Amino acid sequence: MSIQNSYNQWSEIYDSNQNLTRDLDQMLTRKSIAGQHFDSILEIGCGTGKNTIFLADIGAKVHALDFSSGMIEKAKEKVKAENVRFSIADLTKRWPCDDAEYDLVTCNLVLEHIQDLDHIFAEASRTLKPKGRFFINELHPFRQYQGAKARFEKVGETIEVDVFVHHISDFTNSAAGHGFTLVKFDEYWHEADKNKPPRIASFLFVKA
Ligand SMILES: C[S@@+](CC[C@H](N)C(=O)[O-])C[C@H]1O[C@@H](n2cnc3c(N)ncnc32)[C@H](O)[C@@H]1O
Repeated sequence: MSIQNSYNQWSEIYDSNQNLTRDLDQMLTRKSIAGQHFDSILEIGCGTGKNTIFLADIGAKVHALDFSSGMIEKAKEKVKAENVRFSIADLTKRWPCDDAEYDLVTCNLVLEHIQDLDHIFAEASRTLKPKGRFFINELHPFRQYQGAKARFEKVGETIEVDVFVHHISDFTNSAAGHGFTLVKFDEYWHEADKNKPPRIASFLFVKA
């Protein structure tokens, strides 16, 4: 099943099934960016709008992209703020955004589904203003090395979504190659993760 179809199916239960990574990311995103304000924010891979609803509070304008119509429909039910615009877009293609349009790009739990990280950093660099920030929270590669991946249950069947492993150095090298400087790197555990490898890798880059 394609990644897009998997998320169309998952959209029905994405918000309600147990998902510690989703919950940890939601808490961390609010904690990491709280208290700041941005003129324009681009969220790539917004899903059901779990973080969009928060971004609407800290951004004058928010543009949220995803290629799953099912996920975007759920997001639109949840996020009614007038400063938020949703677009269906494939992140592996050119993004439907102008050059130097945003001062923050956010990306949560998406890049494991994208093979070519260079394209993502190139597009983030193109669409960010000078000194713009790129915030990324991803499933930690240490978890991927152990076989963790996006998956959900559907009528007794486990559906695994296609994923690609990106090492920490893949993120930092690709970012550097597109003119980003790493401002902050963190690793996070859910409280249920005692003695396990970190669950989320978190990066904050700034464009030169
Ligand atoms: C695990 S969900 C995360 C959603 C949301 N960011 C969150 O944190 O809840 C991954 C999202 O990435 C989207 N996605 C994956 N590959 C994509 C692509 N090539 N273009 C656009 N969206 C993509 C999926 O449709 C899905 O909504």
